[in-house]
Amino acid sequence: MKKKLVSLLTVSAMTMSMLVGCGQGAAETATTEVAETATEVAETATQAAETATEAAETAGSADLADKKVGVCIYQFADNFMTLFRTELENYLISQGFSKDNITIVDGANDQATQTNQIQNFITQGVDVLIINPVNSSSAATITDLVVGADIPLVYINREPDADEEARWQSNSWNVTYVGCDARQSGTMQGEIIVDLGQDKVDLNGDGKIQYIMIEGDPENVDAQYRTEFSVKALEDAGWTVDCLDDQVGNWDQATAQQLVANSLSAHPETEVVFCNNDAMALGALQSIEAAGRKVGEDIYLVGVDALTEALEDVLAGTMTGTVFNDHIAQSHGAADAAINYITGAGNEYYIGCDYVKVTTENAQSVLDSLK
Ligand code: BGC
Ligand code: CA
Repeated sequence: MKKKLVSLLTVSAMTMSMLVGCGQGAAETATTEVAETATEVAETATQAAETATEAAETAGSADLADKKVGVCIYQFADNFMTLFRTELENYLISQGFSKDNITIVDGANDQATQTNQIQNFITQGVDVLIINPVNSSSAATITDLVVGADIPLVYINREPDADEEARWQSNSWNVTYVGCDARQSGTMQGEIIVDLGQDKVDLNGDGKIQYIMIEGDPENVDAQYRTEFSVKALEDAGWTVDCLDDQVGNWDQATAQQLVANSLSAHPETEVVFCNNDAMALGALQSIEAAGRKVGEDIYLVGVDALTEALEDVLAGTMTGTVFNDHIAQSHGAADAAINYITGAGNEYYIGCDYVKVTTENAQSVLDSLK
């Protein structure tokens, strides 16, 4: 069982306006500085996390078989969250929970539905809640509900904002967030392109990189950061970028397929297609192929997640690269945090993990590690 580094970062301890769309580019310096500070915090905090893990292991003999876990997923029809929840359930069982005491519900991408589900879990008296919010902006309401019922809460995947996280700490509430720093995934997407060399990517030789951006749900910080930091990596390498189109594909393959079909016909000069996740990159690939284009020859394409199908495309050369969004480390981290609350060991208020850059060189080993 692989247990990845679980460090903590107060990464979202910043307030800044996230500009979305072509022509963005503000707030970058501030972001970098905060990112550096966050890294330092992470390093200092790794030790604390290790101590907490040890404490948890000592206390881990507590009987989990009769403990009830409620899990709220924003939407079952999401490829990445499907991998996440499957691994989460299996790992909870491997840690001693009984399958019958783990209830996982589908928020159907509707916050009102999910809030109802949370209320039901509270009425049932679950011992811990793991929540992937539909809207991160509803986190304060969700936290109030759950903390008011004296149930520990582990947020996953969609990070609440800095003010909300600060509240958990200042009130010493049993609330934490487990996830990766989306800025890192964006940077890695950009680096995959930069590593190819400007001569190769600037297909029309005009000294600029013509790109289109397909974004996930713009309410989600993962979408905001990946959009911003992928392009920033090109600019940081001294490249000039030219945003031809920036569209919201809501993490969805079919939506992205349509958007990229439109973009490519309006902008045949597109050199790079950035997608905030692999599902949308798979949709983009369908349209790239339908337009008679060839990834690696007359266009480049990157995603995030490392879905099996995307890894196979990277190996086949039909996707330039992706970034492994470690659902194994995140689901295990979330389950461990839930256990730490149950055993009384407690948790830090942010539990982070690392993304991994994936290109043809390591796609096979990432694929093997997921089998
Ligand atoms: C993943 C997406 C997923 C989203 C759901 C992101 O971290 O990369 O694939 O749709 O989370 O919130
Ligand atoms: Ca160009």
